[in-house]
Amino acid sequence: MALDRIRVRGGKVLRGEIEVGGAKNAALPMMAAALLTKESCRLRRTPLLHDVLTMAEILRVIGTDVRMEGRETHLQAKQLSGNEAPYDFVRKMRASVLLLGPLVSRFGFARVSMPGGCAIGLRPIDLHLKALKAMGAELTLSDGYVEAKAGRLKGVKHVFDQVTVTGTINAVMAATLADGSSIFQNCACEPEVTAMMDLLKSMGAKISGEGTSEIRVEGQTSLGGFDVDLIPDRIEAGTYLVAGAITQGDLFLRGAQASHLEAVLSKLRETGAEIKEDAEGIRVIGRSPILPTQIQTAPFPGFPTDMQAQFVSLLSLAEGTSTVTETIFDNRFMHVAELQRMGADLRVSGSTVTIAGVKQLAGAPVMATDLRASASLVIAGLAAHGTTEVLRIYHLDRGYESMETKLAGVGADIVRLKEHS
Ligand code: EPU
Repeated sequence: MALDRIRVRGGKVLRGEIEVGGAKNAALPMMAAALLTKESCRLRRTPLLHDVLTMAEILRVIGTDVRMEGRETHLQAKQLSGNEAPYDFVRKMRASVLLLGPLVSRFGFARVSMPGGCAIGLRPIDLHLKALKAMGAELTLSDGYVEAKAGRLKGVKHVFDQVTVTGTINAVMAATLADGSSIFQNCACEPEVTAMMDLLKSMGAKISGEGTSEIRVEGQTSLGGFDVDLIPDRIEAGTYLVAGAITQGDLFLRGAQASHLEAVLSKLRETGAEIKEDAEGIRVIGRSPILPTQIQTAPFPGFPTDMQAQFVSLLSLAEGTSTVTETIFDNRFMHVAELQRMGADLRVSGSTVTIAGVKQLAGAPVMATDLRASASLVIAGLAAHGTTEVLRIYHLDRGYESMETKLAGVGADIVRLKEHS
């Protein structure tokens, strides 16, 4: 694993245009959906990210033909050579659990390593398993693996105990090939879920209610292939919008979709940034002073947990006191200690961080701990005085394609330093 780091010299005003890539969190389930059919599938605008490469690797290990040609990913799962997602892959990427639903519903058997503890909280998969069990899958947990067996899964009425993004997607994928109709309640409404339902419908699945908390599925005996364009990555777009705001810059995020980002845009406006939306993308113009605000994460259309860390960086430089409350994950404040090393005045109490704005952040060596925490450290580095080195940026590479190149293209003084440089 490369231990590259990123060096940022702060103080540059970002100006220009950044093209938003395809959404990681839509790409991963869509690649898994190729397991639902023997036909060939094509995903366009694939972002070149470590998580996407890991998903491609796992699919290959179980016998799927995966070819990546530039930004087009071709997948075909005619017949599988195995139904097992081994620990070595699953530990790198929790989203491997998305193989469970399609494998058990099409092939009647799946063996997926349990994801285990994760940096941003306990993150169990019980909600996925409960839904599959309700559809008739027999589940066994042994040696750190979950095995699911079924004849043909059965349609079911199921209420999720808690809103879960990949849990909703996994259950619906399973239900597309089940015997009979299913109704799922308390479903996630994230844009990635809706995009996924559109993809399944393009394969011939009968689904309604996507984008609401109740999704209905009529099981089919087989599905066809797909050929789709990924939606833009709202979290990548949101991250660069914050980078524009914190540097008092003027950035246009080409391809960003405002309807996916309303909660983020309204919080950016509350902090004083000017936001302009049009059909081509979103423009942010950062203003001084940055104003304090209150944020609470929530399932879509609420404020996304994946944007929380970036806003903590922004609000560290606000004129006044802000609070950010994390309600989705139980341990997603790992950026706090690192930002404190850069001079941010942050206090965590339970699931809330209180941010007393400071006039300046100071560059420092900091350690990336998870994907979005890493992004928040780069953002803080862009605004800080002096040099920030963000270590362990393999976390960043999981979800941001060439972040340093995109930011350098709009005027940031940022470089990637290779492991031994
Ligand atoms: N949860 C359970 N049991 C389960 C599943 C979830 O208790 O079986 C809990 C989780 O621990 C968490 C909450 O339910 O407290 C919501 O988790 P959810 O299942 O919605 O998260 P996820 O599907 O594992 C996806 C994204 C995350 C994003 C969350 C929330 C993918 C591949 N991942 O995760 O993205 O934070 O939804 O929006 O879609 C990221 O991109 O950095 C990232 C972590």
